[in-house]
Amino acid sequence: WPAFSDDIDAILALKAKRNAVILAHNYQTPEILHCVADIVGDSLALARKAMTVEAQVIVLAGVHFMAETAKLLNPDKTVLIPDLEAGCSLADSITPEDVRLMRHRYPSVPVVSYVNTSAAVKAESDICCTSGNALAVVRSLGAPRVIMLPDEYLARNIAAQTKVEIIAWKGGCEVHERFAASDIQELREAYPGVTVLAHPECPPEVVAEADFAGSTAAMSDYVGQHKPARVVLMTECSMSDNIAVEHPEIEFVRPCNLCPHMKRITLANIRSALEETRHVVTIDPHVAERARWAVERMLFV
Ligand code: 13P
Ligand code: SF4
Repeated sequence: WPAFSDDIDAILALKAKRNAVILAHNYQTPEILHCVADIVGDSLALARKAMTVEAQVIVLAGVHFMAETAKLLNPDKTVLIPDLEAGCSLADSITPEDVRLMRHRYPSVPVVSYVNTSAAVKAESDICCTSGNALAVVRSLGAPRVIMLPDEYLARNIAAQTKVEIIAWKGGCEVHERFAASDIQELREAYPGVTVLAHPECPPEVVAEADFAGSTAAMSDYVGQHKPARVVLMTECSMSDNIAVEHPEIEFVRPCNLCPHMKRITLANIRSALEETRHVVTIDPHVAERARWAVERMLFV
């Protein structure tokens, strides 16, 4: 990536000077993922690996809830997010008050919150989950009914795999809700033999039409293990870009959808984050204590 060499060299030098590491989500662009990131993964891997970081500064190349999760797990470290506006439509779809109302409506039903929520929503929850462990988390509770929020489609996709009754919230991912089952039927006609992988934030009809559904890390592993000749990933565009770097022999069929929040993170603002120590992620200590418990509980499932 010669076009980015100035920023890349500066970031590598700043990381050493500041004793910093960069945690990057799979939806970050290839030059971030492949040139400056120290730890790369899906939301679950980033949360797990955040617990093992020894550096004093963590730059989260991802969206705000991921930076909050890293801060929850590293209260004594400085966690930076390069753009404070890097949000998430799911995290924006529910408030702590909404969770309290759900609890009032369904007394003694445990609340499972997707990590794509604010720390304040996590603080009202019994346990968190990610797309990588949602089914295991639901099963671990041993309850006949579970509230699963805020992603309605993830909740319905999990409900299809368990006898546990799932009570969903009406949130949606603005990237994945736009895929339709008819897209897959058209792709299969246009690209014979194409393998279709879908993220579980897609509508259930899309997941039913796909050959495999899983977290961003699970989709990446699937491609590495099965090495399909041509594949389409019903998810954010950078996934294909990033996996294609490692598998030039595979034909990656697009369409894909961009996440405008993930795309707010750039090499330029990662560099500024390290130069100017911004934007520092802070969480109210009373909220943090309860939210951390919900996140840590998930990590032991
Ligand atoms: P993963 O946990 O599968 O990486 O998903 C995070 C996300 O935001 C998907 O839209
Ligand atoms: Fe949120 Fe969807 Fe973007 Fe993931 S892809 S960060 S769920 S808006």
